[in-house]
Amino acid sequence: MLTSLNDLPQRKTGGPQLAVLTAYDYPTARLLDDAGVDLILVGDSLGMVVLGMPDTTGVTMEMMVHHTTAVCRGVKRAPVIADLPFDSYSTPELALANARRLMDCGAACVKLEGGVSMLPQVRAITDAGIPFVGHIGMLPQSVKLEGGYKKKGKTAESVDQLIADAQALDEAGAVAIVLESMVPAVATQITGLIKASTIGIGAGSGTDGQVLVTPDLIGSFPWFRPPFAKARADVAGETLRAVREYIAEVQS
Ligand code: KIV
Ligand code: NA
Repeated sequence: MLTSLNDLPQRKTGGPQLAVLTAYDYPTARLLDDAGVDLILVGDSLGMVVLGMPDTTGVTMEMMVHHTTAVCRGVKRAPVIADLPFDSYSTPELALANARRLMDCGAACVKLEGGVSMLPQVRAITDAGIPFVGHIGMLPQSVKLEGGYKKKGKTAESVDQLIADAQALDEAGAVAIVLESMVPAVATQITGLIKASTIGIGAGSGTDGQVLVTPDLIGSFPWFRPPFAKARADVAGETLRAVREYIAEVQS
């Protein structure tokens, strides 16, 4: 069970894979922390699974500040990763200022999407001593630009690009890198090439850790679930049952 980002290098070389989950509110964060999750991510998936938006591009810094603050109130131990949302890191100056805002909410580190093309922003953050988590592969904030969600690492050029991105973030001092939706062999290869811990989602089992969107795990967002996410509870079903019982009791 991780208590500090400083323990990440030691977990990379030995010990179980990192178990990472998202949280957006106080009670969920408190439960995840008590259950022993290694890292808690306040993801901008917030926009979709909590706020009902069609994708993550509508999430703002104000929303991330609001929810990161709530999550950090519920966490005693697990380091919290906060996502920099769409359009909050278009320049290195903006990236640093917004990273500082999320750190002030109690986050242990910040994450943004992109590799080589985001190096000036990443360097601004790491040079200021703010722990940084990368995110490469399928990038949800680029969904409009790319015209959909596509698995990465299927062609030789895209594999070279993913490796270059991972190595650039690693050299810039990332403590971890999320590898989202890529060919498993590529995620495994990247994991062996870099010092940073890799945290996979839809990227096979050869990474240093796994991350899941908690509503997918607990079945609280039943309208869409990615194929790799196994629901281990039926919170939506239980909620419907309880509410229907309540309605029936009140009406009788
Ligand atoms: O926002 C999020 O939940 C994420 C994970 C999918 C890695 O970035
Ligand atoms: Na995200």
